[in-house]
Amino acid sequence: MNTGAAMNTELLSLEGVGKSYGTVRALQDVSLTLHAGEISCVLGDNGAGKSTLIKIIAGLHRHDEGRYTVGGEEVRLDSPRQALDLGIATVYQDLAVVPLMPVWRNFFLGSEQGLRRWGGLRLDADGMRATTREALARMGIDLHDVDRPIGTLSGGQRQCVAIARAVHFGAKVLILDEPTAALGVKQSGVVLKYVTAARDAGLGVVLITHNPHHAYLVGDHFTLLKRGRMAGSHPRAEIGLEQLTTEMAGGSDLAELSHELARPPASPDSATSREERPQP
Ligand SMILES: Nc1ncnc2c1ncn2[C@@H]1O[C@H](COP(=O)(O)OP(=O)(O)O)[C@@H](O)[C@H]1O
Ligand SMILES: [Mg+2]
Repeated sequence: MNTGAAMNTELLSLEGVGKSYGTVRALQDVSLTLHAGEISCVLGDNGAGKSTLIKIIAGLHRHDEGRYTVGGEEVRLDSPRQALDLGIATVYQDLAVVPLMPVWRNFFLGSEQGLRRWGGLRLDADGMRATTREALARMGIDLHDVDRPIGTLSGGQRQCVAIARAVHFGAKVLILDEPTAALGVKQSGVVLKYVTAARDAGLGVVLITHNPHHAYLVGDHFTLLKRGRMAGSHPRAEIGLEQLTTEMAGGSDLAELSHELARPPASPDSATSREERPQP
C-alpha cells in the first residue's frame, strides 16, 4: 500500500516498552515501528494494554521501561502538548468536542484564527469557516453546513472531522483509539475511508481496534496485545484475515471454550427416562 516519495520514513518507534500502574503491569516488552504512509493496527481484547500503549505514544503517560523514539530521537514525553508539538495527534473515542458549538468552532478549538481590526483582535469567523470547509473537502468529506452544531453529526462524522483536523494542523502521526467501536457497519466504512485518506496524505496511523475485520481492511501491519504483552507482530504480507481473526480471538482458548460449551449429544432415551422417573 506504500507508494510515493515521503513514504517509508520512520516516524516513531517503541522498543521493549513497558508501563506499570502501581503493582499492575499494564504493558511489558512491546515494540512497534511506524512509518509515514502506513497504517499500523494494534489489536487486543479488553485489558490487553491498548489504551496504555497509545497513552505512552500520545504523551499522557510516561513509559517506565524500554525506548521510545520520535524521528530517531529518544523521548520521554511529559504531556500531550509535547507529543502534539512533535506532530503526534490523538483522536480518542470520547471525542473532546463542544456539542453545541458549530463544526468550524470545534475544528479550530484551541487554535483559533484572529483578525486585527481597529486596534483589537477578533475571531476570523469567515476565514475559519472557509478553511474548515476546504479542509473537509480535501479529505473528501462532504459537509455542506459547517455552522451546524457538531453534536448534530453522527459519531462517524465527528470522527471524520477530528481526522481532517489532525491532517489540517500538520500532524505526522495520527493515533485513533477504537474509532469504529461504537459505529455500525456503514459508518465504520466511512471512518475507515478517511483513515486511508490520512495515510494517503502521508501520515502514519496507529489504529487501535478489537475488530480484526476493520483492521484487515486498511492495515499494513498488525500488532496483537494480550494481557499487556505482544502476542504477535505481522506485516500484512505475512498474515491473512483468517489467521488474524483466530489469533485475535485466542484460537486455542476458543477451541477449549467451544468444547466446554458443547451440548452433550441428545441420547434417544433421555426424554423417556425422565417420564419414567418414579413419582414421589
Ligand atoms: N490508571 C490505571 N491504574 C491502574 N490500572 C490501570 C490503569 N489503566 C489501565 N490499568 C490496567 O492496565 C491493564 C491494561 O489496560 P488498558 O491499557 O486500558 O487496556 P485496553 O485499552 O486494551 O482495554 C488493565 O489490567 C487495566 O486494568
Ligand atoms: Mg482501551
